Amino acid sequence: MSDKKASLSIDGKTLDLKVHSGTIGPDVIEVSALTGNGYFTYDPGFVSTAACESKITYIDGDKGVLLHGGYPIEQLAEQSDYLETCYLLLYGALPNATQKETFVNKVRMHTMVNDQMSTFFKGFRRDAHPMAIMCGVVGALSAFYHDSLDITDEKHREISAIRLIAKMPTLAAMTYKYTIGQPFMYPQNHLSYAENFLHMMFGNPCEQDKVNPVLAKAMDKIFLLHADHEQNASTSTVRLAGSTGANPFACISAGIAALWGPSHGGANEAVLDMLNEIGDASRIDEFVAKAKDKDDPFRLMGFGHRVYKNFDPRAKVMKQAADEVLAELGLENDPLLIIAKRLEQIALEDEYFIERKLYPNVDFYSGIILKAIGIPTSMFTVIFALGRTPGWIAHWNEMISGSYRIGRPRQLYTGPAQRDFVPLDKR
Ligand code: SDX
Repeated sequence: MSDKKASLSIDGKTLDLKVHSGTIGPDVIEVSALTGNGYFTYDPGFVSTAACESKITYIDGDKGVLLHGGYPIEQLAEQSDYLETCYLLLYGALPNATQKETFVNKVRMHTMVNDQMSTFFKGFRRDAHPMAIMCGVVGALSAFYHDSLDITDEKHREISAIRLIAKMPTLAAMTYKYTIGQPFMYPQNHLSYAENFLHMMFGNPCEQDKVNPVLAKAMDKIFLLHADHEQNASTSTVRLAGSTGANPFACISAGIAALWGPSHGGANEAVLDMLNEIGDASRIDEFVAKAKDKDDPFRLMGFGHRVYKNFDPRAKVMKQAADEVLAELGLENDPLLIIAKRLEQIALEDEYFIERKLYPNVDFYSGIILKAIGIPTSMFTVIFALGRTPGWIAHWNEMISGSYRIGRPRQLYTGPAQRDFVPLDKR
């Protein structure tokens, strides 16, 4: 706790409130004393609320800083890889060579799903949105692991984390294959994590497929850039679900559902839809005007962020990866990339966006890369969910392994005061 004090004077009373300091970032004022004095705090959208203590990720929105375990995202993106970052999120330290090899092999040995899982897919229409399928099949995983669902057992929590990280690419690829009517591809464990995913997505039983290493590297970087992001909406959903004691598979399924929204993880799909709707750089001004029009619900997808009021450090890395992938594929003149770069330039010179500190976020360029790799727009948020799984499960584990209570926010009630029931014949 900090030696700072906060006091609140209200109704002639002064309440002394505890202040806590973290390693870095704003101090927090503990407000639990308010309830006993007949008050709640009021913070719709939890814009100013620290819902928990965490050691996993730190964001400074004004400085455009994102740290996982203290390491800047730019350095991890440049020098680390996705599974090593998964290890960092789960255990709070970078692995040494032996620890990394053990972890990678553990994940490798859990990439297959129980073959009965394939029957779940058959209940969906072929044109089901992939996120609808993922919500279902990830939650269904809990039906296969009754031997390891004791959340109070550290070993059960660890094997659940490994299973989820290992099986998300398999389930994501099965979801894609199901929607295009192709047979499921089994994971090939001699491949790296990202190579295996691209193999399961684009391979087929009739041909030997060779995964392009440049695309696999870009895929791994996209997973890494999405791995965790502090207490965002979907992670907070996972924590709230977990606070009831629900099993980790059900909690991750809840996180997937929350991520689906276009204001959150669904934005990458919405960015591509927007760029396609703009269609040509000559129409950008028309759409920027719509985004600024208070009477028009249209927003520039991929711009703005609840926390980053400066650039999103992930967007900068993603933009560089987009250039690399499109150069590798000879798509430097991809019309959507041209529109995206022009849109970014115009938006960042426009007073409306500057005043509101609306910069490109992680979703603005990720869709360009995913489209270039050949992933359909409808699968973009599934890729985000796959990447975010270690973050979700790390936060779930951090909460469950510590002391926690069931999450139960209160409200400001503005409905009718108590009144007596009126019989039907008197209404
Ligand atoms: C992710 O939390 C996380 O960490 C999320 C995430 C993660 O890794 O988990 O980073 C992933 O969700 C990134 C965000 C992806 N969403 C989008 O790209 C959708 C487009 N962006 C917006 O919907 C919006 O910016 C939010 C939802 C992201 C943030 O909304 P805020 O912080 O609540 O801001 P706001 O809605 O209060 O807007 C403030 C002002 C408003 O104008 P005024 O009322 O001041 O006149 O900015 C305007 C808004 O109208 N505004 C935009 C805009 N975003 C905000 N105007 C046009 N286009 C936009 N994109």
